[in-house]
Amino acid sequence: MIKKFTFGTPIETDAVLIKQPNSTIPIPYLNQITYKELLSNSISRKKDNSTYEEFFNEDSICFTYDMEDSTQIYGLGEQVRGMNKRGWIYQSCCKDNGDHIETTSSLYASHNFFLVCGGKDLFGVFLDFPGIVNFDMGYKKLDRLSIEISNPNFTLYIIEGTSPRDIIKQFRHIIGRSYIAPLWAYGYQQSRYSYMSSDEVREVAKKHEELGLGLDAIYLDIDYMERYKDFTYNKDTFGDLKELTDELQEKNLHLVPIIDAAVKIEDGYSVYEEGVANNYFCKDENGNDFVAGVWPGKVHFPDVLNEKAREWFGNQYQALTDLGIDGFWNDMNEPAIFYSEENLNYVLEKITGYKGTNLDIHSYFEMVRLVVGLLNNPDDYKRFYHKMTINGEDKIFRHDLVHNLYGYFMTRAAKEAFDRMYPNKRLLLFSRSSYVGMHRYGGLWTGDNYSWWSHMKLLLSQLPAINMCGFIYTGCDVGGFQDNTTKDLMMRWLAFSLFVPLMRNHSDCHSDFQELYRFENQEIFRNLLKIRYAMVPYLYSECVKACLNDDLVYCPLAFEWPNDSLACETYDQLLVGESIMIAPIMEQNKTGRFVYLPEEMMQVSMKSDTDYSTKILPAGVHYIHADLDTVVFFIRKNHMIVLGKGVLNTSEISPSDFTTLGFSKENTPLSYTCYFDDGYSKDYENPNHYISYTF
Ligand code: GLC
Repeated sequence: MIKKFTFGTPIETDAVLIKQPNSTIPIPYLNQITYKELLSNSISRKKDNSTYEEFFNEDSICFTYDMEDSTQIYGLGEQVRGMNKRGWIYQSCCKDNGDHIETTSSLYASHNFFLVCGGKDLFGVFLDFPGIVNFDMGYKKLDRLSIEISNPNFTLYIIEGTSPRDIIKQFRHIIGRSYIAPLWAYGYQQSRYSYMSSDEVREVAKKHEELGLGLDAIYLDIDYMERYKDFTYNKDTFGDLKELTDELQEKNLHLVPIIDAAVKIEDGYSVYEEGVANNYFCKDENGNDFVAGVWPGKVHFPDVLNEKAREWFGNQYQALTDLGIDGFWNDMNEPAIFYSEENLNYVLEKITGYKGTNLDIHSYFEMVRLVVGLLNNPDDYKRFYHKMTINGEDKIFRHDLVHNLYGYFMTRAAKEAFDRMYPNKRLLLFSRSSYVGMHRYGGLWTGDNYSWWSHMKLLLSQLPAINMCGFIYTGCDVGGFQDNTTKDLMMRWLAFSLFVPLMRNHSDCHSDFQELYRFENQEIFRNLLKIRYAMVPYLYSECVKACLNDDLVYCPLAFEWPNDSLACETYDQLLVGESIMIAPIMEQNKTGRFVYLPEEMMQVSMKSDTDYSTKILPAGVHYIHADLDTVVFFIRKNHMIVLGKGVLNTSEISPSDFTTLGFSKENTPLSYTCYFDDGYSKDYENPNHYISYTF
C-alpha cells in the first residue's frame, strides 16, 4: 500500500514511473514540524554547522518519528556507516568525497529511500526531492528520527506492507525495472588511473593470458583522452583505437573508457563548440555559460537536465561506440568542481593579500581553508542554472535545488542514446553519482575508496541498501583505490567480491600498481578468479532475476529472520540471492571469524572451482577458519546453486557445463531456477532463458 503526499510544486525527477494518486488522509507515522521547532527541540552539538544548516531556513519542512529501542533502519543506498542506519546523521547531497571516513555525511550518491522495522511499526519512506535533505537517524536525539528537507516542494511516499521485502518490492515496482548489465560485465575487470597507451593495455591482456588469470575488460582512465576532452582519444599514445578494440575483441576482451561530466573549453573542439552554439551548457546568473575548473582546466557543464542538451550529449558517445567500445563509466558527475572561475578569482586575490604578513594561528588556517575550500564549494552549486521543460514550459532551476539529479541525468543521456543506437544490445554503463531513477539507466560504482579494511567492510553494509534503491549492478574499487594495498587485503577483497556483480580492480595514479600479476604466487589469484567465473552463472541469474522481479540480491539477515534477535543484529553477513549466505573475513591477520547461522547450513570451503569441501553446521555461532587462499560461503538448508566451470572469460560460460551444489535436509527435494541468456540482447521475457534444476 503506497501513500503519496505532495507538498508545494515538486520538481519532476522521473524517479517514480508508476504515478500514484495523492492521499488525502493524514500522513501516518510521521509528525510534521518546522526546522525551527526541530532545532529548538534538540541540544545543539555541532560547532561547524556549515554542511548542515546553510541550506535550511524557515521554509524547510521536517518530519519526525519516535523510535523504540528495537527500531531498525535500513536503506539510504550508498552511504557511510553500518547496515542499520540508526545513530548518525546522513545528508543527501551528492559529493565527490574520496576521503570518506566514519563521520562523513554524504557520498557520491543520494538515495532517499529507507525502511523502518524491528519495532511496532513497519513502513518505508521515499522522499522525492533532488536538493539537500538531512536524515537524522537518532543523532541529535537518540530515539528521534527526523527528515529535514531544505525546500517546501517535494513528494513524500509512505509504503506499508507485510514484510520489509514486500515494502521494498512495492517501491521498486513504482520506480521501474533496474538496468540489466551484459554478461561480460560479470567477468573480472582490470583498471588503473591510467593505462597511458595502447601498449600498456596490451600488456595487461598479455599478462592475464600468459598467467591464466581470467579477464573480461580493461579500463581507460582520463589519460586516454586528448587533453582530457570527452569523446576524443590521444592518437600519439593510442594510435588507431579501433585497431586496439578489434584486437581485444578477438580475445573477447572489452575496453571501457571513462567519460567525465565536464567539457573542456577549447576552440576547435566540436563538443565544446556545438554546446556553446546551441546553448547546451549550464548558465551562470548573467546567462553566460558557467565556467568551472576540472581535469582539463576550464570547462562547461552540459545541461543534461534539459531534454535537448541531454539528447545531444548522449549522441556524443557514438564517437567511441563507432570504434568498437561497448562499455562506459561516467565520472565526476556530482558534478565535481575543482573551482569556479568566480571563487578562484576571489581566493587568489585574498591569498595575494597575505603576502608579507605574519601568518598566525588565525590567518594561516584561514588561508588554508580558502584554498581547500575551492574544491566542491557549496557556494559554487548556487552559481549555475539548468533549464528544464515542464509541461511545455521552460523553467529555470538554480543548481543546488536539483543538485542530486546531475549524475542520474548524465547517465540517462548515455543510456537513452544507446537505446536509440543499439535497440537490442546491452552496453555496460555505470556512474559515480546517482539518484533513485538512475537505476533504470545504469549501474553504480561506489567511487573512490582507500586500500583500507574498513572500506571493504563498508561495501558489505552498502550492498543491501543500494539494492533497495533499485541498483543491482554495483561494486567498489576492489583492492582499494587510494593508498597502497597489501597482498592479504587484495586476497580477502577478491574473496568477498566474488559475490559482487562489478568485480573491478582499480587503483590511483599515486598508489602502487595492484594488478593481480604484480603479486607473488599467481596460483592463488588464478584460483580465486576461477571460483569467480564458476560463480558467475549463479550471480548473473540472481542479479537478472532481481531486476526482473523488483527484488534484492543482497538481503540483511534481519529481513529473513525478523524474530531472531541475533540474526537482526548480524550486520557483517549477507544473504546473496536465494541460496547463499556470505560472511567475509574483513580484518587483517585473521585466519577465521565468528559466523552466526540462524539455521542449519552447509559450509562450502573452496580453494579452486574444482577443489572444495563441504560440511553441515548446526544453527548457532561458529568460529570458521579460512586461509587466505580459501573462499568460504554457506548454502542454506534445502537450497541449491548452480556452478559453472572455472573458465578464463565469460564467453566460455556454457550451461552444458553447469553443475549443482545443494544442501538437502532429510532428502527434501531441491530445485533452482537459473536465468541464463545470450548475455547481450534484451529479450528478457523469453521463457527459454530459465533452466530448472532439481535434485
Ligand atoms: C576520479 C574517479 C577515479 C578516477 C579518477 C581519474 O577520482 O573516481 O576512479 O580514477 O577520477 O579519472
